[in-house]
Amino acid sequence: MTTLADLLTRADAIAHDGTVLIHAAITREALDAARIAVLGRKQGQLTSLMAMLAALPAEDRRAAGAAVNATKQVLEDAFATAEAAHGTTSDQSRPDDLTMPGRDSWIGAVHPVSAVIDEISAIFRELGFTIALGPEAETEWYNFGALNFPPDHPAMEAHDTLYLTEDTLLRTHTSPVQVRTLQTYTPPVRILCPGNVYRRDFFDATHAPSFMQIEGLCIDEGVSFVDLKATLSEFARRFYSGSSKVRLRPSFFPFVEPGAEMDVEVDLNDGKGKRWVEILGCGMVHPNVLEAAGIDSEKYSGWAFGMGPARIAMSRHKLPDIRLLYDSDVRFLEQFAR
Ligand code: DAH
Repeated sequence: MTTLADLLTRADAIAHDGTVLIHAAITREALDAARIAVLGRKQGQLTSLMAMLAALPAEDRRAAGAAVNATKQVLEDAFATAEAAHGTTSDQSRPDDLTMPGRDSWIGAVHPVSAVIDEISAIFRELGFTIALGPEAETEWYNFGALNFPPDHPAMEAHDTLYLTEDTLLRTHTSPVQVRTLQTYTPPVRILCPGNVYRRDFFDATHAPSFMQIEGLCIDEGVSFVDLKATLSEFARRFYSGSSKVRLRPSFFPFVEPGAEMDVEVDLNDGKGKRWVEILGCGMVHPNVLEAAGIDSEKYSGWAFGMGPARIAMSRHKLPDIRLLYDSDVRFLEQFAR
């Protein structure tokens, strides 16, 4: 014969075992199975408890009923909590595999060309230069005319590019920003202009049809070639090493007179010792360029330079092929994350 004491003992056991079963259910299926085992109408443990209750003498039923309801409440609460923990979006077919190794966290890196631009910008910022930007779709006049390229001059051959309209093209260098800046601000002007430029070049180991340049411009009253040389040597010493020697070789660019190319003597740590590496073109800004920008060339003078940060990144990291810098290949780029 079933007694009230039997029922209370059984009710405790069902509440305890049922709760353990619910907490152990990691997957949705296991939780559903637990629900049937515990609360299922036909075979559920709670149903068996009801059956015991029906067999008790009438005077015990009130106390027994309260115990059955309390048990049911405990189990329903446990289900509600487990249900919420599983969430509605969990992938029901795949349990979490707690033995799986943790995920590797990724360490991001600055692209080697961006790193060179950032370092150069930081050095020139200390020397009093501000960043200036200009459009990549440029007019012929800003890209060539205002920069003293005579029409059809052979110097333009190296600057073949994509024309967007009769008069607009993808800029072949950042030098047009010199003119745009001088039209907007009266000297003294000291700017650094990093930006993308375009040329009709094949994509090979040493050329890219689109690449970064950094332009520099310094215009004020009484600025001379001495200022150019002093500033650019100071830059080279900070960027390479304190003892780096520089040399200027005469060169031609239509927008400067005189024009030069600057080499730095560097050891690239490749066992070949020190050698001269060309890093930039520079010169005293041509009076025609100042006048084109509306600046009085009798009153003001100054100097400018242009360099290619990708080339600098290549020599710094001894890269054999410039395309490595454009491929976005993580196997190459992740090396710079350390
Ligand atoms: N714009 C030139 C080029 O792309 C580089 C350059 C040379 C810029 C001399 C300058 C400069 O400002 O003075 O080839």
